[in-house]
Amino acid sequence: MPPAVSDPARPTVLVGCGRLGSAIVEGWLTHGPVDPRRLSIVTPSAKPVTDRAGRAGATINPDAEVLVDARAIVLAVKPAKWREAAAGLAGRLAADAVVISVMAGVRAADIRSVLDRPVARLMPTTAVAQGRGVAALWSDDAEASELALALFAPLADVVELPTEDQIDIATAVAGSGPAYVHAFTRAMAEAGVEAGLSPDDAVRLARGAVRSAAAASLDEDLEDLIARIASPGGTTRAGLQAAEEAGLARAAHAAVVAALTRARELSAG
Ligand SMILES: NC(=O)c1ccc[n+]([C@@H]2O[C@H](COP(=O)([O-])OP(=O)(O)OC[C@H]3O[C@@H](n4cnc5c(N)ncnc54)[C@H](OP(=O)(O)O)[C@@H]3O)[C@@H](O)[C@H]2O)c1
Repeated sequence: MPPAVSDPARPTVLVGCGRLGSAIVEGWLTHGPVDPRRLSIVTPSAKPVTDRAGRAGATINPDAEVLVDARAIVLAVKPAKWREAAAGLAGRLAADAVVISVMAGVRAADIRSVLDRPVARLMPTTAVAQGRGVAALWSDDAEASELALALFAPLADVVELPTEDQIDIATAVAGSGPAYVHAFTRAMAEAGVEAGLSPDDAVRLARGAVRSAAAASLDEDLEDLIARIASPGGTTRAGLQAAEEAGLARAAHAAVVAALTRARELSAG
């Protein structure tokens, strides 16, 4: 019988436990798609989350036997370090191992040429730590996609993309997006201060507005959500119209295009 796509008895190995790797481990420990006793973390230095994972039964810096048995290898090092990290894995992986790369700008074909295993590329946000992330997924291998979904769907809304090139676009929208939202929140707070609020009250109110927006149903159409707040002739409608005239859509477009252009420059080396 072929092995199950996600086999809870086989190790999952995370290589790199920095900002994103730590968020992934937090999410796995809390939301459970990986049994911590089957989790191994390769990391040059101890992190708060590796201590927590170790107490839950995870292996930190496993020996070669664990690597040989691993079904999923998640690569979460900086793009500049991936070849060095992969050198420790090449030739040691199980025949049915699958590599899931969360690295920006490293092509699946390059990883496959070194590790010789199917590769899925997944770009998650660090909100996977709270089980509330979003992630773009692409692979040309059905099993790799299925395994990536099994590991990340409990932590994120996983959007499967039809082409690898779209990963950079998804990153410019969703990966960078939270920073754009924070910048917009700051601008709203500054506008509140200019209009007469205290800085503390303005920041609290602007952040509360973003939290309220995020609490809306994920399934509801965006136009309907806007229409529910912005009634014709009302204050919100006036505000939205002024924001559009001042270039709200142009600013979002410019941000995505600039992030995408930079991603392509970085991948070109
Ligand atoms: N941060 C994000 O929001 C985000 C989102 C999407 C994708 N990504 C991608 O995720 C990857 C990691 O980003 P990051 O922000 O988490 O970077 P980071 O905080 O610098 O983490 C990278 C980690 O890799 C470790 N490392 C270095 N060499 C290693 C090796 N040979 N074997 C195992 N681990 C090694 C480092 O260990 P030490 O700390 O001990 O040096 C570090 O903790 C990047 O490729 C990035 O494109 C990040």
